[in-house]
Amino acid sequence: AVTRTFSIIKPDATKRNLTGAVTKMLEEAGLRVVASKRIHMTRDQAEGFYAVHKERPFFGELVDFMISGPVVVQVLEGENAMQANRDIMGATNPADAAPGTIRKELAESIEANTVHGSDSDENAAIEIAYFFNEDEIVG
Ligand code: CMP
Repeated sequence: AVTRTFSIIKPDATKRNLTGAVTKMLEEAGLRVVASKRIHMTRDQAEGFYAVHKERPFFGELVDFMISGPVVVQVLEGENAMQANRDIMGATNPADAAPGTIRKELAESIEANTVHGSDSDENAAIEIAYFFNEDEIVG
């Protein structure tokens, strides 16, 4: 089925001017960008977005990193979009990511790992609603 997922192009990528390179890899993987905006997250916004990780030892660093520069939040649409996006992103740690994936080709470290992607359809819906109104999504 054609579904939607949520993606973030992270500060390490916007800083290196890789917004287009990341988006090209998403598009070549069959995903369509149906909403996109460049934002600089507030600390509250980042803490809320990553609330599920708040007990993790890396939570503070993760939030600091995510507000260290602009990000591009996107809604992606395609056949089984959540899984297709996870496949093209590659493993969280670029050292473990398969060749040809975004993180293998572009990411710097497990923290500065270039992209975020929703890990389930349920979380995709929650994450999309966190950043977008329905009228900003144009399929
Ligand atoms: P993301 O998909 O955005 O979801 C949570 C993020 O936490 C993850 O990508 C990584 O960037 C980051 N992360 C996960 N594990 C670690 C770790 N051990 N150290 C630092 N950051 C991490």
